[in-house]
Amino acid sequence: ATQRTLSIIKPDAVAKNVIGEIYSRFEKAGLKIVAAKMLHLSREQAEGFYAEHKERGFFADLVGFMTSGPVMVQVLEGDDAVARNRDLMGATNPKEAAPGTIRADFAQSIDANAVHGSDSPESAQREVAYFFGEDEICPRG
Ligand code: CMP
Repeated sequence: ATQRTLSIIKPDAVAKNVIGEIYSRFEKAGLKIVAAKMLHLSREQAEGFYAEHKERGFFADLVGFMTSGPVMVQVLEGDDAVARNRDLMGATNPKEAAPGTIRADFAQSIDANAVHGSDSPESAQREVAYFFGEDEICPRG
């Protein structure tokens, strides 16, 4: 079924100037970009987005990294978009990411891991709404 998922190109990948290469992978996989914005997240925005991880030992580093430079945030739409995007990204830890995935090709470490993608349709709904109003999303059929 057609789904939406929230994707973030993280500060490391923006700094490497590979936004276009990553967009190309989404498009070649049949995912359509239906909303996008570049943001330099505030600490409050990053903490709110990752609230589910706030008890984890890596939370402070995660928030520090995600606020270290601009990110590109997009809504991807397509058949089975949540899982399809996760397949494209590869494992969270780039050392475990399959060859040819975004993280295998562009990521340095588990913190600087190039991209974020929603992990379920339920989190996609929350994460899309965190960054975009319905009037900012342009369904393209
Ligand atoms: P992301 O998909 O953005 O969701 C939370 C992020 O926390 C994750 O990608 C990683 O970049 C980062 N992170 C750092 N350490 C860990 C860890 N041990 N387990 C999961 N995520 C981690």
